[in-house]
Amino acid sequence: MTNHVSVPDRSWWETAVGYEVYIRSFADGNGDGVGDLAGLTDRLDHLAWLGVDLVWITPFYPSPFADFGYDVADYTDIDPLFGDLDAFDAMVAKAHGLGLRIMVDVVPNHSSDQHPWFRDAASSVDSDKRDWYIWRDPAPDGGPPNNWITHFGGSAWTLDEASGQYYLHLFLPEQPDLNWANPAVGDAWEDILRFWLDRGVDGFRIDVTQGLAKDPEMRSNPELRSLVDGMSRNEQWDSFEHRYDIMQPETLDVFRRWRKLCEGYDAFLLGETYVLDTAALTHFLEPNDGIHRGFWFAPMHLQWSPEDVREVLEAPIDAVPAGIGWAMSSHDDPRAPGRYGDGELGANRALGLFTMFAGLPGTPFLYQGDELALVDGVVPPDRYQDPVVFRTGVATDSRDGCRTPIPWEPGSPMLGFSTADDGWLPMGGRTDADTVAVQRDDPEAFVHRMRAMLLARRELLSRGLLATQPVEWTDLGSDLVSYRRGDLHFVLNAGESALELSCDNEQVIFRTGDAEGLVAPGATSPAVGAGCSVGPGEAVILQSVMLQSSAADTRA
Ligand code: GLC
Repeated sequence: MTNHVSVPDRSWWETAVGYEVYIRSFADGNGDGVGDLAGLTDRLDHLAWLGVDLVWITPFYPSPFADFGYDVADYTDIDPLFGDLDAFDAMVAKAHGLGLRIMVDVVPNHSSDQHPWFRDAASSVDSDKRDWYIWRDPAPDGGPPNNWITHFGGSAWTLDEASGQYYLHLFLPEQPDLNWANPAVGDAWEDILRFWLDRGVDGFRIDVTQGLAKDPEMRSNPELRSLVDGMSRNEQWDSFEHRYDIMQPETLDVFRRWRKLCEGYDAFLLGETYVLDTAALTHFLEPNDGIHRGFWFAPMHLQWSPEDVREVLEAPIDAVPAGIGWAMSSHDDPRAPGRYGDGELGANRALGLFTMFAGLPGTPFLYQGDELALVDGVVPPDRYQDPVVFRTGVATDSRDGCRTPIPWEPGSPMLGFSTADDGWLPMGGRTDADTVAVQRDDPEAFVHRMRAMLLARRELLSRGLLATQPVEWTDLGSDLVSYRRGDLHFVLNAGESALELSCDNEQVIFRTGDAEGLVAPGATSPAVGAGCSVGPGEAVILQSVMLQSSAADTRA
């Protein structure tokens, strides 16, 4: 590993910046219009240049693709659409050579209905695998055993005509839930994790972390309001208190076992803790013997206002100071810049917020294209792919817009994503100016501002300024969100207009408004002891002048 920052007494993952690769849409190496491992391998240099440390790759396993790979038919192989195990090994070797770590996405809550385990389980009530999934007799009226619904809308139970029993699925009927109360499932999963660890992966992103164990009595959830036609998937989900279907204490025991295994490999466990309250995060992270970190999803739902920005930063830090995976976009939610404001303002705010993540304890994660300030691609209804929109019929439920392919170079219909004329999703209205190549050629482009920030963070870590210092929230006025860490002061202008900041005894050492990078230690800045203007959405990093000069003295 060449470019990692290593901070004494800190594990590598405590200082890493992550990057999510949604493999179908990242880079297509074989010209079939779908991203793959060869395409990713070719483009890893971009990620090393950008300054991220850890690459999370969404599922590439054999799959019927009912949910685009989150329905796994074999946990220890690669779907031919994406390559094969040799292509995987080549990708890992290249990544490691570039100083990048690799995290694979594991899907333990459910398998595909085409997984041999489920096919066996469904073949007979007497199958050895029957109890690897969750089967129940119908309710007395013949309907589903309880009132649980799926994350994608509709009942979580599907009747298996052959046996007359229902099986449980918290997502699509093609994604039956595994029965984690059966110890054989846990043993099989230990083998799966070991398979990937032995192939050299550095960690796992755990799909549906909150879901694995279920209430043993399968009680109905308290209903908060009645379901009505036309509700979005989130409105349906929020109509219940999810007391019995998710967040069961036994789930943590699964991750305790995984943690022990991973410690032998120095590997990292990051949960998709899709819960919007900090109490739930505390449940997973406070004991500190299960997952290392859990994603905090509030920034994905943030409707921009200074109060809400402050809240999404402060609440998780107050609850679980070191446990947060920070992200603002993903393959499941609309991209950040489009949600945070129009045009350049949205892009500036996304970078400003990400800078605030980057200064806090935790692991900040970019989603592919965040470094280009991409907004959602435009996908016409006749090109919809996401099964959720077909299930609920609600167009805003579609996750296709955040999944359109990455634009790499100008000059071809798929802008360098693929040599094909079209892809599994359209490019969605990208222009040449959106592409990686055009942005990298323009020193003023967004990608350079993002990169400058990531490199500044590395530099601050290596100067020992961002390692162990506690977070102290500061109050500079209602539109400014700010905190100190030791001698650094991170300030974001979350308001609508430029603001003057007084810089008594502090020097601006970095600003997201330009791509110039970190001010050299000891350099004088016109802002010392004066004021500086911070634009809307802009973040600045200030450093106490006293410390700067003593650091410079020590070096001299
Ligand atoms: C997670 C994934 C999502 C998938 C779901 C079911 O939320 O991020 O894409 O549809 O799990 O596996």
